[in-house]
Amino acid sequence: MELEVRIERLGAQGDGVAQGPDGPLFVPFTLPGELVKVEAEPGEARAEALAILKPSPERIAPVCRYFGNCGGCALQHMEGHAYLAWKREQVIAALASRGLEAPVEEVRAVPLASRRRAAFTLGRTAQGIAFGYRAARSQTIVDIAACPVLSPNFAGRLPKLKSALATLLGGRREARVTVTEADQGLDLVVEGLRPSPSLFAKLAAAGARLGAARITVDGESVILASEPSVSLSGTQVRLPPGAFLQASRESEAALVALVKEGVGRSKRVADLFAGIGTFTFALAASAEVDAYEQDEAAVAALGQAARGTPKLKPVRTHTRDLFRVPLGARELARYDAVVLDPPRAGAKAQAETLAASSVPKVVMVSCNPGTCARDLRILVGGGYRIARVVPVDQFLFSPHVELVAVLER
Ligand SMILES: C[S@@+](CC[C@H](N)C(=O)[O-])C[C@H]1O[C@@H](n2cnc3c(N)ncnc32)[C@H](O)[C@@H]1O
Repeated sequence: MELEVRIERLGAQGDGVAQGPDGPLFVPFTLPGELVKVEAEPGEARAEALAILKPSPERIAPVCRYFGNCGGCALQHMEGHAYLAWKREQVIAALASRGLEAPVEEVRAVPLASRRRAAFTLGRTAQGIAFGYRAARSQTIVDIAACPVLSPNFAGRLPKLKSALATLLGGRREARVTVTEADQGLDLVVEGLRPSPSLFAKLAAAGARLGAARITVDGESVILASEPSVSLSGTQVRLPPGAFLQASRESEAALVALVKEGVGRSKRVADLFAGIGTFTFALAASAEVDAYEQDEAAVAALGQAARGTPKLKPVRTHTRDLFRVPLGARELARYDAVVLDPPRAGAKAQAETLAASSVPKVVMVSCNPGTCARDLRILVGGGYRIARVVPVDQFLFSPHVELVAVLER
C-alpha cells in the first residue's frame, strides 16, 4: 500500500524512521523532516521510498553511482556536517543508554578514497559473474567497477580483480575475498574455494596479472612479490593473512594520535587486543609496552618487528585470550596506563578487573559504541572518570562509528 509519511529521525542503521500505521516505519535513504511517499506492507517495519515529496535541506547528491543498491553505504545522501553530527549523536546515545554523560568531541572526519581494506563477494548471478558488496539486508551481490571510499590504487583495480578472480570460481557458487592494500601491493585472502595444485597455478597467473603481493586461499598462501607488510609508526610489520588492520592510514593516524594523547607520559603501558601493534609501536617510542593478543600469527609478527627495531623501548608480547583470562589485579598493578581495543563484542571481563585495579589511565578504542558504553559503565562503577570521548569516522557513509575514550582515576 502507498502512504505519505514524515521522517522523524534516523535509526541506528541510518534509515529514516517515520510513524507508520502499525508503529515505527524504517525507510532507507531518507532524512529527518522529509515528506516521503512509501510502499509499505501491512505488518512490515520496513518500507521503500517511492518519491521524496519534500526533500530535506540536508539532502545532497551521492558520490557513488551504486549508492542505494550497494549495501556498503547507508548515508551518502546527507550533507557532511549533518552526517558527522548524527555519528556523534550515536555515541552520545550509547553512553546515555548506560546512564553515562561525558564530553563527546566533534567527530574526526576521514577523507574519501582512503580505505585500504574491504571484503567482497565473488559469485555467479543470473547476469554472469559478479564481484562486489552485498546489497543491504540481502544475499544479492552488487557488481561494482568503482568505489569512492577505497583508496584510488585499490579502487582502480576492481575490474581487474574481478576478471582475474572469476577464473578461480570453478564449480563454486560464491567466494569471499578480503583485499588489503599492503606496502608491496594488494594482499588477497580468498575463502570458499578448495585449495588444489591447479587452483594455485591459476592463482599465480591471476596474481601476476593483478600485481598482487600475495593470495591466500583457505589458509594456504602464494607469495607473488615480497611478503606483504605495513609501516606502523615507522616500524615495518609483516601482515599475516587476514590479520586485523585499521581501515585506512588516515583513521589509523587519528586513532594513534588520540591514544598517545590519552596515555600521556606513562612509562609502563599494556596494549590489550594489540593485533599486529598499531598502538604498540606508537607507544614504544617513549614507554615500555606489554602487547597482549589472542591471534598467534599477529603476536609473532609484532614480536619480530619489535626485535628488528632497536630504537624502541622494550616491547614484550603475550599470546592470550583476554575474554577467558583477562589481566588480573597483580598484573595490572605494573602499569601506568592500559590501552584496550577489543573486537565488536567489547571487553567485559577485562573491564571488570580493570575497574577493581589502581591503573591511573585507561584508553578504550572501540568500533562498537554499544559494547563500549557497557564497558565504560563498568569502569566508571569502579571509580574511573571519563575525561574525553572522541568519535572517528573510520567507516565512511556506514552507520558504524569508531571511538576513543580516555579514563582517569
Ligand atoms: C579491533 S582489533 C584491534 C587490533 C589492534 N589494536 C589494532 O589497532 O590494529 C581487535 C583485536 O583483538 C583480537 N582479539 C579478539 N578476541 C580476542 C580475545 N578473546 N583475546 C585477545 N585478543 C582478541 C583480534 O585478533 C584483533 O587483533
